[in-house]
Order: sequence, then structure tokens, then C-alpha cells
Amino acid sequence: MRKKIVAGNWKMNLSLEEAKTLAGELKVKMDQYKDTILEGSGNNIPEVVIFPPYLYLTGMIDLFVHDDGVSVGAQNCHHEESGAFTGEVAASMIHSVGASYVIIGHSERRSQFGEGDKLLAEKVKLALKNGLTPVFCCGEQLPEREAGKHFQVVADQLLHGVLWMEKDQLERVVIAYEPVWAIGTGKTASPDQAQEMHAHIRKLIRDSYGEQIAENISILYGGSCNAKNAGELFSNPDVDGGLIGGASLKVEDFFTIIKRRQENG
Ligand code: PGA
Repeated sequence: MRKKIVAGNWKMNLSLEEAKTLAGELKVKMDQYKDTILEGSGNNIPEVVIFPPYLYLTGMIDLFVHDDGVSVGAQNCHHEESGAFTGEVAASMIHSVGASYVIIGHSERRSQFGEGDKLLAEKVKLALKNGLTPVFCCGEQLPEREAGKHFQVVADQLLHGVLWMEKDQLERVVIAYEPVWAIGTGKTASPDQAQEMHAHIRKLIRDSYGEQIAENISILYGGSCNAKNAGELFSNPDVDGGLIGGASLKVEDFFTIIKRRQENG
């Protein structure tokens, strides 16, 4: 069965003190929540992943021992193994501090830092080689959707980014569909729009790799997902969770989103 995941992308926000406060509050809530759920019937608590800035990775990893059900990942990694790349961070370094995930191909990296398909495929390769789970982002711009090209755009991003790999590698990838027009805009994709794109992504995987792997891959939705709309989005059969930006910075909102994921099976 595929993993249900709620991930918080903190982006370039929060001082160290603020990050510690947010994470500390999340830890308390997760501990209490797990006790209540485990006493009850369900064991379907989603995996929670936070993506703090690089600087805070070790602090967050120290805070969340394995039992808390919170994993930690990086927001990016470099596309080379190591070397003279001043200011950059390698996938191996991220793994060496104990992080388990890395976001690759976020639309802000694609548009503001010019990251293209070839480079992103290199990053995915290095992430897997170094034992990290890549959260590979895809999603169309508004004009592409308006022109009816969104399915093709997402298919192309996936073909170049991840659908070239061997089956046993793809099994270790998480996909995040994030329509660019919904990121940070307060304009969420409707549950139907999310479901149809997620089903399209799953079909692409099924067509190339077969039913089993298509059923096992987690596909997250991202783009103005919040405490109010998360339940409806997560009630769709192909929406396995969320990659949350703004709402992950408010513990109450993020925690509500985690609960919505759990409530929706
Ligand atoms: P948002 O960001 O939830 O603030 O729209 C999502 C993301 O960029 O991953």
C-alpha cells in the first residue's frame, strides 16, 4: 500500500528560534496525537516530513527521533557529487546528517534558478544513489492550462525527470503535482482538477512500469493546500497527501492538515 504523506516546505522562512518553536510545538502535537490514534482503531497516521532550510537540518533531525513519525528533508541538492561549487550542498551531505528526503524540481527552482529537465534528472540520480527519497515536483503554468496543454506539460516533466529510470529506482520516488498558478497564490486546484491530474500521472507510470508500481507510488498535491481545503483534496483516490508551503509555517494549520489526511484513510 502506498504511503500517505504530509510534507511541510518551509522555503526560506523562519529564524532558528522560530524554527525551533514551530518544530517543538509540532513534536508535542504529534506525540499526543499518536497516543490517541494508537489507542483507537486506526494505525493510518500519515508520514510527516518537514523541509527546513539546510542550516536547520541537523537541529531538526536531533529533535525528531524516529518515534515521532516526523522525517526531515532538504529543499534542494546540487547536481554534482562534490567539488568546487561554492555555496552548494551535495546529496551525500544531506544524507550524512540523517535527512531522508529531498525536494527536486520545485517550480521556484525551475523558474527562479533556471533548473531544467537534464539537470533535475542528475539531481534525482544523485539523491537515489545517496539513499535519499526524492520528492519530484511537476506542474503547469497558468497559460499552459488555459491552452489545454497541462497534461502534456506534466507528462514531459515526468518523462525527463523520473520516468527514464529502472523500476526499483522509481519505487523510491515520491511525486508532487504542484500547479504553478496555485503555489502561494491562495488559488487551489479544485479537488476534481487535482484528481484528474493525479490519475493521469498514475496512468503514465502504469503504462510504462505496470500496475503494481503505479499503485505503490505516492503522489502529493501542492499549491495553496490549507486546513480548510485539505480534507476535500485528500478524499480523492489518487491524492496521497500534500506538499504544503505557507500553511506548514503555522502549527495549528499544519496539524489540521495532518489530521485531515489521517481521517481520509
Ligand atoms: P503553498 O506552497 O502551499 O504556499 O502554495 C506549496 C509549495 O510550494 O510547495
